Amino acid sequence: MTALQTALTVDHNGNGFSSFHKYYCARNCISNVTPLLKSQLAYRKKNMLMTTNTTTTTTTTAVSAYKDYQGGYTATTIEAPPAPSDHLEPLHGAAGGIGVLEFLRGKNFFVTGGTGFLAKVLIEKLLRTMPDVGKIYVLIRAKDKQAAAERLKNEIIDTDLFKSLESLHGKSYKTFMQEKLIPVAGDVSESDIGIESNIAAEIAEVVNVVVNSSANTTFDERYDVAVNTNTRGPCRVLGLAKKCKNLCLFLHVSTAYINGESGIIPEEPMQIGHRVRSQMYTNEVDLETELNIALQSKEASQVKSTPLMKELGLQRAKQHGWENTYAFTKAMGEMMITKERENIPVVIIRPSVIESTYREPFPGWIEGNRMMDPVVLFYGKGQLPGFLANPEAVIDIVPVDMVVNTILVAMAKHGKEAKPELNVYHAASSVSNPVTLYDFFKYTCEHFKSWPLVDRDGKEIRITDMKFISTLSDFSSYISSEIIERNSLMDDEAKPDEKLSKRVKAKCEKLETVLLHLATLYEPYMFFSSWFHNGKVKALMKMMSVEEKKLFECDVGVIDWKEYICNIHVPGFRTHVLKGK
Ligand SMILES: NC(=O)c1ccc[n+]([C@@H]2O[C@H](COP(=O)([O-])OP(=O)(O)OC[C@H]3O[C@@H](n4cnc5c(N)ncnc54)[C@H](OP(=O)(O)O)[C@@H]3O)[C@@H](O)[C@H]2O)c1
Repeated sequence: MTALQTALTVDHNGNGFSSFHKYYCARNCISNVTPLLKSQLAYRKKNMLMTTNTTTTTTTTAVSAYKDYQGGYTATTIEAPPAPSDHLEPLHGAAGGIGVLEFLRGKNFFVTGGTGFLAKVLIEKLLRTMPDVGKIYVLIRAKDKQAAAERLKNEIIDTDLFKSLESLHGKSYKTFMQEKLIPVAGDVSESDIGIESNIAAEIAEVVNVVVNSSANTTFDERYDVAVNTNTRGPCRVLGLAKKCKNLCLFLHVSTAYINGESGIIPEEPMQIGHRVRSQMYTNEVDLETELNIALQSKEASQVKSTPLMKELGLQRAKQHGWENTYAFTKAMGEMMITKERENIPVVIIRPSVIESTYREPFPGWIEGNRMMDPVVLFYGKGQLPGFLANPEAVIDIVPVDMVVNTILVAMAKHGKEAKPELNVYHAASSVSNPVTLYDFFKYTCEHFKSWPLVDRDGKEIRITDMKFISTLSDFSSYISSEIIERNSLMDDEAKPDEKLSKRVKAKCEKLETVLLHLATLYEPYMFFSSWFHNGKVKALMKMMSVEEKKLFECDVGVIDWKEYICNIHVPGFRTHVLKGK
């Protein structure tokens, strides 16, 4: 666990279930049968996809960014972005559809990252919609098969996410799960992904689809660790896929943020040596050099030098124009796949910010305090009344079940054809249905105003509208004065208990450090000026039958952000991550 993660770990105040939680549980039952409202966001076309650089007051529209892109180093055929409300009418579908269920029936899978947020939802959906699926080999980091089986039970089979499946199967649930899910101890950062040769041979014999969802998702991980997991890892998994005699597809989960660019990002493969199109970044990424730097620095390093290794990662990423170590090493992972795939059929899914389930298996399921949620939590606790962000920037969010549906549909489409192609899909909302940071925090605020968090004394925490701050130095002064004011530390001497005062002061300083670190890490995303084109996902939707559209909803255009943020996502986060606060 990183220092930041430790600092962000939610502290439980032992209040048990609040009235909010009871409301949410009741609502959750209802929302399973209440169709969500179609998006009614009144975005004016003028403001659509427009971002204002608050420091220079220049504006960039998506269209001009697109034109700029066209003049860039790579030819592309994408069209200008559609209107935000332009989503496909769910009642129309291609007669035969893609044949998603037919494809899944009887297929055997090898899945990495199964103990993670996304792949768990993928496994659940696979087993629920297609119980006649073959076996799913789940790679789990563990010392041996027994330990892997233990993690499979504790982190997958016995969890809330799988309750719907459990109620479908009743008493035979455990048998069904044990029959379908095969735990495999391994690690993508080891050679041959650290799995025993006999199980590797079995996988090579029977597996049809390999899904790589494993990653190190810490933004500022040690460079050696991030390169080994996110850059070399996918290639090691691809190595196993190449050995599979009946392989239909290798599906890799990347991230939409791998591009390091501004403007409209197309659903196109990342070229080896991709160079960020800015005068500041003139060097192409040399994969061999980066792999060597990571390896050599690992050999030269001691455990103590973790801060240096983290710094190295950020430095290498920024030197080439990427936001952080995570995005840079994931980008190099895609480059490695492009380089090494030979004639293997590959699909790369690039989700943007993944948040809680929209509908399935029930609305609001989420795991971990991730992406926007640490900010939401500090805001709800009244500790972050302002944040370093551009209110007009679009925050590209996508519910996890829609990412999973996109994965399954793309998998079926290309797995059936099994052509030696590489296809890329963006599971993202910024072009089809953008939500600004202003609206994101407005809806979050509405939620907390209606259902406030409570402090240690059981008192409701009152929050104010989010204040947007445009520079890190302004944020730094703002947050320190806010924290001091809130804790009445302005006049230290006025405190009768000096010891207590010192303790509170130390706590405030710690909080300030955490918030500053958070703001620094998130700054690129809070002033983001890219939109992820999803024309290829829309093309897939056009091929789906009416039934497939109902079963595998991938149309982010149907999301009503107010409903989702206020009544699904934040409540889900409170129920499943904050455990009912
Ligand atoms: N969450 C997002 O918002 C988001 C957005 C865009 C893209 N993505 C991508 O989506 C994928 C899934 O993300 P997630 O949110 O599910 O991440 P997550 O919750 O952090 O899970 C990561 C998974 O990868 C596994 N893993 C990490 N290092 C490994 C290693 N060396 N060997 C084997 N397994 C390893 C973890 O295993 P342990 O349980 O043992 O740690 C865990 O199962 C990733 O590729 C990520 O880059 C995520």
